[in-house]
Amino acid sequence: MAAGGRAPAPWVLLCLGALLAPWVSAGLEAVVIGEVHENVTLLCGSVLGPRGLVTWYRNDSELVFLLSSNSSLQPADPRYSLANAGSLHIETLSLQDEGNYTCQEVLNETRWFRVWLQVASGPCQVEVNISSTGTLPNGTLYAAKGSQVDFSCSSSSWPPPIVEWWFQAPDSRTEPFGNNWTASSFKLFLMSQNLQGNYTCLAKNMLSGRHRNVTTELLVYSPPPSVPQCWAEMSPGTFMLQLTCRWDKGYPDPNFLWTEEPGGVVVGKSQLGVERLNQSQLSDGKKFKCVGSHIVGPESGTSCMVQIRSPSILSEPMKTCFVGGNVTFTCQVSGAYPPAKILWLRNLTQPEVVIQPSSHYVITHNGQSSTLTIRNCSQGLDEGYYVCRAENPVGLREVDIWLSVKEPVNIGGIVGTIVSLLLLGLAIISGLILYYSPMFCWKVGRTFRRQDMGDVMVLVDSEEEEVEEEKDVAEEEEEEANERVELPKEVQKHSHIHRVTALVNGNIEQMGNGLQALQDDSGEQQSDTVQDDDRPV
Ligand SMILES: *[C@@H]1O[C@H](CO)[C@@H](O)[C@H](O)[C@H]1NC(C)=O
Ligand SMILES: *[C@@H]1O[C@H](CO)[C@@H](O)[C@H](O)[C@H]1NC(C)=O
Ligand SMILES: *[C@@H]1O[C@H](CO)[C@@H](O)[C@H](O)[C@H]1NC(C)=O
Ligand SMILES: *[C@@H]1O[C@H](CO)[C@@H](O)[C@H](O)[C@H]1NC(C)=O
Ligand SMILES: *[C@@H]1O[C@H](CO)[C@@H](O)[C@H](O)[C@H]1NC(C)=O
Ligand SMILES: *[C@@H]1O[C@H](CO)[C@@H](O)[C@H](O)[C@H]1NC(C)=O
Ligand SMILES: *[C@@H]1O[C@H](CO)[C@@H](O)[C@H](O)[C@H]1NC(C)=O
Ligand SMILES: *[C@@H]1O[C@H](CO)[C@@H](O)[C@H](O)[C@H]1NC(C)=O
Ligand SMILES: *[C@@H]1O[C@H](CO)[C@@H](O)[C@H](O)[C@H]1NC(C)=O
Ligand SMILES: *[C@@H]1O[C@H](CO)[C@@H](O)[C@H](O)[C@H]1NC(C)=O
Ligand SMILES: *[C@@H]1O[C@H](CO)[C@@H](O)[C@H](O)[C@H]1NC(C)=O
Ligand SMILES: *[C@@H]1O[C@H](CO)[C@@H](O)[C@H](O)[C@H]1NC(C)=O
Repeated sequence: MAAGGRAPAPWVLLCLGALLAPWVSAGLEAVVIGEVHENVTLLCGSVLGPRGLVTWYRNDSELVFLLSSNSSLQPADPRYSLANAGSLHIETLSLQDEGNYTCQEVLNETRWFRVWLQVASGPCQVEVNISSTGTLPNGTLYAAKGSQVDFSCSSSSWPPPIVEWWFQAPDSRTEPFGNNWTASSFKLFLMSQNLQGNYTCLAKNMLSGRHRNVTTELLVYSPPPSVPQCWAEMSPGTFMLQLTCRWDKGYPDPNFLWTEEPGGVVVGKSQLGVERLNQSQLSDGKKFKCVGSHIVGPESGTSCMVQIRSPSILSEPMKTCFVGGNVTFTCQVSGAYPPAKILWLRNLTQPEVVIQPSSHYVITHNGQSSTLTIRNCSQGLDEGYYVCRAENPVGLREVDIWLSVKEPVNIGGIVGTIVSLLLLGLAIISGLILYYSPMFCWKVGRTFRRQDMGDVMVLVDSEEEEVEEEKDVAEEEEEEANERVELPKEVQKHSHIHRVTALVNGNIEQMGNGLQALQDDSGEQQSDTVQDDDRPV
């Protein structure tokens, strides 16, 4: 419409001003866009079909002849040819072909038409560069969470292209990245998980409208935030040791390496972190180390260690139960790692029989402590050895507990027994009294006379006296003799003292000294003097 509306104007101008100026068709300007390596055809005016003599020039600073419809004139370049009796056809365009072209048509009058040829190139060789990232074996890029990532997109294009970035998160639509800006490069600080996805660089040649894009997948990896945790347990079902290493919340999953320590013998390497060992590989106190390694984690990995231990048992060696009563055994396991399985057994037969819980046997487990309660003890059934067995894959410990079952003893029975024993005692004493009654009465009479003697002495003496009495007839003489016999020690002591006194008195006369010598002798040297003087006496 615009071209059609303008078309008459040059005509009018030409008609009016053919004499005024040779080139007045400046307004009749067409713009043609071509692309490098392509062909282009420039029309001379808007008229197709037979025309007069057409000559094409290039008009940059001055007119340069290119081609004429007068066949006797050679085209300036073989790439130029005439199409449709007037149009200029240029083959394999290059950027140098861009410029203003003019065509001259000579018919009744001479007319000039101008064409502005613009040449676009690309975009091609679009390249995306994402830096500060690693590359997986399959070529996919990854960046560490929290890191800074630089994105840039380069391409070869003329005129310079407009670059747009598009982003597609997993399982969602592709959408423009950023707030509809265009930039060939940008930075992302503090990469996070929601920035993982496909980044598309879209380069657009605004002249040709041609666009190209390149999509690059970027994964955002994060190491587990904490340290690995490891433990040992009994593998369910089997009696193997299961080592487990957990290092959660990392992306992707870390790798685990279990080794024996010290020595570093490899037990296993996996993404699961679980290894099973049979008993031949275990010994008390052995250590196992798990090293967790993550693609964006610490280079040397982080580790944790477990030490396996066989169980120890603490229990009482023997217990007593009354018939019909209850008794409770306690078995305390310590030091076991992994925790031991505790069993109660009865060794009535070989192999020993595991005691199953019942109304008779109550078994309670509380952590590494277990109790066995036997209700309603019976002598024949329950007396004997009981075994507490603690077992983990590292080792086994057993403790024997002896249970003795006794008949119940009631208070009435005890009292009755004591009373009957007392009565029996009394009866025996009475019998003795009756048998020895005369001497007993006589002896009592004598006992009162010798008040300073103890009862025991009396009984002992009485036996001697009985013997003596049987021998001697004179009671009075015997009594005196007894007194003499009983008192010899005291008499001797007194006599010593007497003798000492006598000697001292004698000495006083010899020494002629006063009271001091007497006091010294009687005080300090008494015992020595007594012994010395005993012999001469
Ligand atoms: C350009 O023109 C030549 C000759 O007319 C032809 O052989 C060639 O295929 C054309 N090239 C393109 C890209 O159209
Ligand atoms: C050549 O171009 C100049 C300006 O670019 C213009 O003024 C002139 O008229 C042109 N000549 C022809 C013959 O079109
Ligand atoms: C074509 O060009 C030749 C050589 O320049 C010239 O002699 C001849 O007159 C031209 N023909 C026309 C029709 O202009
Ligand atoms: C062609 O002419 C237009 C004006 O008509 C001018 O703006 C443009 O720069 C010219 N192109 C070249 C390559 O000289
Ligand atoms: C000029 O062109 C017109 C049509 O455009 C035509 O009618 C006329 O015969 C031509 N010849 C001369 C000599 O003007
Ligand atoms: C490359 O490997 C990673 C991790 O194994 C995977 O997530 C990604 O999809 C793979 N990419 C391609 C193109 O196979
Ligand atoms: C982005 O800009 C283009 C033009 O540059 C516009 O057509 C489009 O609607 C804009 N999109 C948004 C989301 O602003
Ligand atoms: C990226 O694109 C590829 C190919 O379309 C697709 O397989 C992959 O899952 C995409 N990755 C993400 C993170 O969306
Ligand atoms: C225990 O493990 C060792 C080494 O893995 C193996 O040679 C042995 O046969 C295993 N023994 C049993 C009883 O599984
Ligand atoms: C034995 O234990 C049972 C159940 O706890 C209880 O009912 C019973 O009275 C207890 N017997 C004795 C003698 O303590
Ligand atoms: C039960 O254990 C005790 C103590 O170890 C042992 O003396 C006894 O012989 C064992 N009884 C049987 C039947 O094995
Ligand atoms: C206790 O055991 C005896 C036999 O051992 C049985 O006769 C009696 O009924 C039992 N008592 C209870 C309360 O179970």
